[in-house]
Amino acid sequence: MKLSVIGAGYVGLTTAACLAQIGHDVFCSESDLEKLAKLQNGEMPIFEPYLELVIKLTQRANRLRFGSTEDAIAWGEALFICVGTPPLPNGDADLSAIEGVARAIAKRASGYRLVIEKSTVPVQTGAQLRRHLSVHRANGLKYDVASNPEFLREGTSVEDFLHPDRVVIGVDSPRAAEILRGIYAPIIQQQFTCPLHSQCPKHKSPLFLVTDTNSAELIKHASNSFLAMKISFINMVANLCEAVGADVNKVAQGMGMDPRIGSAFLNPGIGFGGFCFPKDVQAFIRIAEKSGCDFTLLKEVERINQHRVEHFVEKLRKELWILRGKRIGVWGLAFKPDTDDIRFAPALAIIRQLLSEGANIQAYDPQAMDKCRSELPEITYCSDLYRAAEGAEAILLLTEWSEFLTADWGRLSTLVERPVVLDGRNALRREEVIANGFQYLGIGGVSEGTLSASSMVEV
Ligand SMILES: NC(=O)c1ccc[n+]([C@@H]2O[C@H](COP(=O)([O-])OP(=O)(O)OC[C@H]3O[C@@H](n4cnc5c(N)ncnc54)[C@H](O)[C@@H]3O)[C@@H](O)[C@H]2O)c1
Repeated sequence: MKLSVIGAGYVGLTTAACLAQIGHDVFCSESDLEKLAKLQNGEMPIFEPYLELVIKLTQRANRLRFGSTEDAIAWGEALFICVGTPPLPNGDADLSAIEGVARAIAKRASGYRLVIEKSTVPVQTGAQLRRHLSVHRANGLKYDVASNPEFLREGTSVEDFLHPDRVVIGVDSPRAAEILRGIYAPIIQQQFTCPLHSQCPKHKSPLFLVTDTNSAELIKHASNSFLAMKISFINMVANLCEAVGADVNKVAQGMGMDPRIGSAFLNPGIGFGGFCFPKDVQAFIRIAEKSGCDFTLLKEVERINQHRVEHFVEKLRKELWILRGKRIGVWGLAFKPDTDDIRFAPALAIIRQLLSEGANIQAYDPQAMDKCRSELPEITYCSDLYRAAEGAEAILLLTEWSEFLTADWGRLSTLVERPVVLDGRNALRREEVIANGFQYLGIGGVSEGTLSASSMVEV
């Protein structure tokens, strides 16, 4: 089927490439001309594992092309809107990019179009889109509007798109449902040439859930808010563990063994970040407020998360006393491993706080340094994790990239000024860190002092 994807960011580029990979003829548009030029020249504007490969494969097969939004609107019978919905100062989602695309569709498209919201939008945005298309349409446009929330995770977006656990569509007409069922048929049946696995692991077929548009829109915000709530919950448990002398890793392990709870998103740390959770929680609070529902629970989730930065910096202050003039080695800038995305990354908030207190930061991240340079020009960017540790009075692990987890602690002990490690993700092998003479400070009572006690109770 001829499909268009509007917006070539983390979601749009993955969507376009994967839809082409499963056999569709895809046109992907991007309004940022620098990004578009890169894509047209075969360069990647973002880092995402396997995405470059899928783009190359599908372009070679002549099933993926890049160009203007006007041309995208003319190309596809179904148009996936994948533009950004960043937060406004009051927490509302900024829907101006969505509105701009809707206006362009209304003005330029003729015949029938299925307009699909893949961007994360507040409930009732579909209804607004319908109204907007109806008011502004020229050329006798006929249309349906559908919601198709995206659940991919940066770092594993290609895998998540091709092997999802569910595909949700929100539709208000049988025609829209039929088109979307057709688009996703190869994924639902898991019948396509997989670029990731020579033999795909036996994935059970993804569930295909059809709802009304409002419910589909709510599913996305409710899912992200729930996951954020799990993270804030375990972070509060971590604080309690620190206060009473327990080990949050063990507590999380024991909780996660209960299938009703599950172990995912029970990782204590410096808080959630990225382009989704912080803004989606905010937007969900605002949606609830405007609908007369006081979602105080989510306000707490947000407050707890915001406090993680200060909580972590306070640990460092306790250790180093004065931060002014101290050299601090920072490992990781991206909001999570395997991405170059630094939007709302807790690492940046921590660095800004340390800079405001006069610390000197030398940082290393495998992929995110280019994006970070313009945001934080005042820090030193290092060529590897060892350089970032040279002369440091403390090493801070802020993103758990795999290369940090396999660092040579013997070598590091010869490089640092003072052997102190703050593990903001409880991800390092602390026995090894400690064995090499470092003082290890984790989150939630996971520190040098509790090592022997917690390692005695192995499960
Ligand atoms: N990033 C994620 O992990 C993720 C996961 C699920 C859902 N989402 C949601 O998907 C949406 C997009 O997120 P993202 O991370 O891909 O954002 P992004 O900022 O990486 O990408 C959006 C892209 O759209 C482009 N754009 C804006 N207006 C345009 C127009 N008129 N025509 C063509 N291109 C246009 C922007 O230049 C940008 O490149 C958001 O609503 C987000 O909440 C994101």
